[in-house]
Amino acid sequence: MAHADQPEWFAAGLDHLWLPYAQMKTAPPPLPVQRTEGCRIYLDDGRVLIDGIASWWTACHGYNHPHIAAAIARQLEQMPHVMFAGLAHEPAARLASRLAALLPGDLERVFFSESGSVAVEIALKVARQYWRNRGAPRRKFVAFRGGYHGDTAAAMAVSDPGTGMHGRGRDLLPAQFTADLPRDETSAARLDELIAREASDIAALVIEPLVQGAGGMIFHDAATLGRVRAAADRYGLLLIADEIFTGFGRTGALFASEAAGIVADIVTLSKALTGGTLPLAATVVRRPVFEAFLSDDADAALMHGPTFMANALACAAANASLDLFALEDRAAQVAAIETALLRDLAPCRRVSGVHDVRVKGAIGVVEFDRIADHAALRRRFLEEGVWVRPFGNIVYLTPSFTIGESELAALTGTIRRVLGT
Ligand SMILES: Cc1ncc(COP(=O)(O)O)c(C=O)c1O
Repeated sequence: MAHADQPEWFAAGLDHLWLPYAQMKTAPPPLPVQRTEGCRIYLDDGRVLIDGIASWWTACHGYNHPHIAAAIARQLEQMPHVMFAGLAHEPAARLASRLAALLPGDLERVFFSESGSVAVEIALKVARQYWRNRGAPRRKFVAFRGGYHGDTAAAMAVSDPGTGMHGRGRDLLPAQFTADLPRDETSAARLDELIAREASDIAALVIEPLVQGAGGMIFHDAATLGRVRAAADRYGLLLIADEIFTGFGRTGALFASEAAGIVADIVTLSKALTGGTLPLAATVVRRPVFEAFLSDDADAALMHGPTFMANALACAAANASLDLFALEDRAAQVAAIETALLRDLAPCRRVSGVHDVRVKGAIGVVEFDRIADHAALRRRFLEEGVWVRPFGNIVYLTPSFTIGESELAALTGTIRRVLGT
């Protein structure tokens, strides 16, 4: 796959790498990256790309923010990692208490892990065991069409079975219930019917609050989320809010579920938690959920403990990232990005083949009538010096909140030009 003019490490290593979500027989080689800075990706061949994705929505403060870099460097001197069984450390304890203070309601007990999918696995495991510990085991979940919760087995089982990327190979997965989002009273009634019929075996409902990300950047409103909360409440079920994409300001508020005025029983966080620097995730539960695990019976304990749980470097990075939300006005930046996206993507509505243009917070989406020619679009975006990756039937922007006005204008201008407006 490699060319002679590419760096030595690339030529030597590429044939040993297995790339994500890629048909390795036909996938074009990835681009060798030398470094990142702010909202830019510097390629080995000298090209510089303006980043419209912020590395799968993680780099909310831009790349290489000095405040996070300094915190990681300080922590590295002191202690990069120590096992988290029988030992604890300040970065994790401080981070847990800060997350508890920032999250709504009594979401106050934090279980750390290293990736979003694992945080979701833990949330599902907690929900099932909550019921078992209470002497009324329930095994299943209600998830929503368009949803995506990760690539591990249970996370795939609650992702959309039809349209999502985990449609194939489902025979490996325990079957779950998939419902339409209750956007109106009719779909709310259908959801209610499903729950009424199956409630005795449903542990929890699982939803990405306000935005279903990898399923196609599909938005819903606070009332829809409120109906989901109400349905869970009516039958005494747990609600899991997967805020791995929406958490830390992406939709405007720090957490989407809070903006919508609901408190979930379990919340999953990752991605922007460390400002996109190091892998870290958290599963946060409300007090009554945690209390169901307190017992004289050892079997009632949560049997989970990732080796790199609460990694000290990652926790230090996350604490520094939370500092930045307090020190710099990210909410105002997201509001300004939203205004610019609304204004500058609007002309795409006139393009034939464009089905919808929508914006929420720092998320801008152009949706086509049908699946786009990804390879051709990606090539065009690269030629224009921007890093934008269409998937399914959408082109989207989820830039860093620190992106400059002219950089954002370059991204939206390129999308308009490539689509021919
Ligand atoms: C809402 C949501 N949940 C879970 C995940 C999985 O996270 P990870 O890729 O860190 O395993 C993602 C990743 O895109 C996500 O958007």
